[in-house]
Amino acid sequence: MSSCVIAPSILSANFARLGEEVDAVLAAGADWVHFDVMDNHYVPNLTIGPLVCEALRKHGVTAPIDVHLMVRPVDRIVPDFAAAGASVISFHPEASEHVHRTIQLIRKHGCQAGLVLNPATPIEVLDYVLEDLDLVLLMSVNPGFGGQSFIRSALTKLRRVREMIDRSGRSIRLEIDGGVKVDNIGVIAAAGADTFVAGSAIFNAPDYQDVIARMRAEVARCTLC
Ligand code: DX5
Ligand code: ZN
Repeated sequence: MSSCVIAPSILSANFARLGEEVDAVLAAGADWVHFDVMDNHYVPNLTIGPLVCEALRKHGVTAPIDVHLMVRPVDRIVPDFAAAGASVISFHPEASEHVHRTIQLIRKHGCQAGLVLNPATPIEVLDYVLEDLDLVLLMSVNPGFGGQSFIRSALTKLRRVREMIDRSGRSIRLEIDGGVKVDNIGVIAAAGADTFVAGSAIFNAPDYQDVIARMRAEVARCTLC
């Protein structure tokens, strides 16, 4: 399995000092910046768009920016995020009229492409597109808000998607998003995730370095990665 990636979700950061918050979390050992985009349409919340992504790049952020689109329609905004410096762009199949076309669009604009499965979305949606993806993101909460509790059925789903990815022989990251904490990240890693989004668990902690180190230690304890 590929090495583990910790991707703090800036949804739980202090938006009044976002640049400093991102610098701090990266200095504390985070690998990626998870960037949650919500539109008050596909999900009942409203957050940030390409201008903020671009502002982080101009601020000097060089780490991968992992854009999680919770918007409908998807295609209109993809080129804007690519131009704003996104590294990975993931979207929900329910929000796109043509899933394969959206994946192609993301790649055409030079970004890595990810597909996001909600807790009730069957894994069969991956059947004809897995080989075109760089990342599969499994939601372990319903999208729209930080600070929710981890939904246990995501563990079964992780195991199944891990098998699909391994069978494909391709290097596709398996990311989990929602309710990830120090005390459950070990079982999540053991179920097959290699990329871990955590918002409230990191940004609500008094010491980012300490919580990220404890997450990594738990992942290492529970897997061979
Ligand atoms: C939810 C977002 C998550 C969220 C995770 O729709 O996709 O990235 O910020 O927050 P926590 O880690 O607090 O559950
Ligand atoms: Zn997210």
